[in-house]
Amino acid sequence: MSLSVDVGNLVNAERGSIDRAVFIDKGLYELELERIFARCWLYLAHESQIPNPGDFVSAYIGEDPILVVRDSRGKIGAFLNTCRHRGMRVCRADQGNAAAFTCTYHGWTYGNDGKLVGVPGYKEYYYEELDMEQWGLVPVAQVDSYKGLIFGTFDPTAPSLLEYLGDMAYYLDIFVDRRDGGSEIIGGVHKWIIPGNWKLASENFIGDSYHFPITHASSTKVRPFTGSATGQTRIGRNDPKDFSASPGNGHGMMMNPDREDPPGSYLSEILPEMERHLGPARARLSASAGTVFPNFSTLWGTSTIRVWHPRGPDKMEVWSWCIVDKAAPAEIKNDTRVQCLQTFSPGGITEEADGENWSQVTASTRGHVARSYTFNYEMGLGHERVSEEFPGWLGPRVSEHNQRGFYRRWAEVMSGKSWSGMLPGQPG
Ligand code: FES
Ligand SMILES: [Fe+2]
Repeated sequence: MSLSVDVGNLVNAERGSIDRAVFIDKGLYELELERIFARCWLYLAHESQIPNPGDFVSAYIGEDPILVVRDSRGKIGAFLNTCRHRGMRVCRADQGNAAAFTCTYHGWTYGNDGKLVGVPGYKEYYYEELDMEQWGLVPVAQVDSYKGLIFGTFDPTAPSLLEYLGDMAYYLDIFVDRRDGGSEIIGGVHKWIIPGNWKLASENFIGDSYHFPITHASSTKVRPFTGSATGQTRIGRNDPKDFSASPGNGHGMMMNPDREDPPGSYLSEILPEMERHLGPARARLSASAGTVFPNFSTLWGTSTIRVWHPRGPDKMEVWSWCIVDKAAPAEIKNDTRVQCLQTFSPGGITEEADGENWSQVTASTRGHVARSYTFNYEMGLGHERVSEEFPGWLGPRVSEHNQRGFYRRWAEVMSGKSWSGMLPGQPG
C-alpha cells in the first residue's frame, strides 16, 4: 500500500505530540482497515443477545458486515455477512432467530453454522458440479467471549482474547462480573453517524477527564451524571486517589477508588456480592469511562457500552447498548435504561456535546494549513506510576496518560509488526 505519510513519524508518545494526518489522511485510513481492524480483536455482541440456538445479531469488523449467530447446536460463530455468489448481504435484519439464511438475490441458502446448504438450480444450471463445501460463508478466524462479551478477529495469528485483553480484563470485570449471573444487554442497539474520525471517540473515552466540566457543563446541571446502578464518580479533577489506568496493549480506563454508596441504595445492598466477585478494593472502584483498543468503549455512569465503527477518515458510525447486572431488579434496570436514553444516546443531552466536538475537530483538521500543526498530548507526562494494588501503569485522573498509551499502540499495530514483535504491554 502506498502511503501519503510515514506512519513511524506520526506519533511521538514520549513527547506527547501527534500529527493531525492520523485523523484525516485517506491512505492511513485504508491502512487502519487492513492492519488494525482486520487484525485486532473487536467487540461484536453480548451473549445475552443470542441466548437460544438460531439467535443472531448483526455486527461489523471495520467496514465488513458480520453476522454473529448461535448455531442449532448452541455454538457461537461469526461470519462475513456477504453472499459468496455475488456479494449480497445475506442477512438484512439487526437481530432475530433463523435456522438458515437465504440470500434475496438468487436464493443461495446458508445454515446457521455458515455452511452453504441450498443453491437454486443446483441440478439444472450447475449440473451438480458446484462444490458447495467450498462456498460457505467466510468465517471470522477467531471468535471468543469474555464473561458474555463476544469478540472476533480475522487474524488467525492474533494472540488469544485473554492475552489481547491482558490486565484490561481486571477492569472490565467491574462491568461484567459484579453479580452472580453476570451482565446483560437491555433494549436494542442505538446507531448513529458522527462526521468525525473514530479515534477521537476512542481517545475521549479512554482518558479524557479534562473535557468533562467544560463540554458537559450545561447538561450535567439538567441531568446529573450518575446512575442508581453505578453511583457517583468524580470527574474532571485530580483527587490524589483517582487514576487513569493504562494496562497495556492500547487499552485504558479512568478510575475512582473508594466509592461511597448511600445506605439503602442498590449498590450498598449488592456490595457483599460484589466483594465476593471482585475483592474489596475492586468492588469499590467506579470505572468512569474506558476503551478496549481499538474501538470498544464503556461508560460507567450511564451503563453504556459502544463501538465506534470506522466509516472513512472523517466519519464514524456509533453502535451503543445499555448494559446491566442480569440479577438487578426490574426498577434498577428500567432506571438504567432511562438514564442511558436521557444522557448517552442519540437524543441524550450529554452525548450530543461530545459528537459536536469530534465533528468540529475533524472539520477543522481538513484544512491544508491546520493539518501541519500537531495535536498536544503532554498533560501529565512524567507523572505516571505503578501501584501495588491495581494493575497497569497509572497516571493522574486528569491527564493524557491513557491517550498516549492508545496512540503508542496504534503506531505499533499500524507499522505492521507481527503480533510476536509487539510487546504485550507498554507504559502509557
Ligand atoms: S448474490 Fe446471493 S445468491 Fe446471488
Ligand atoms: Fe464527553
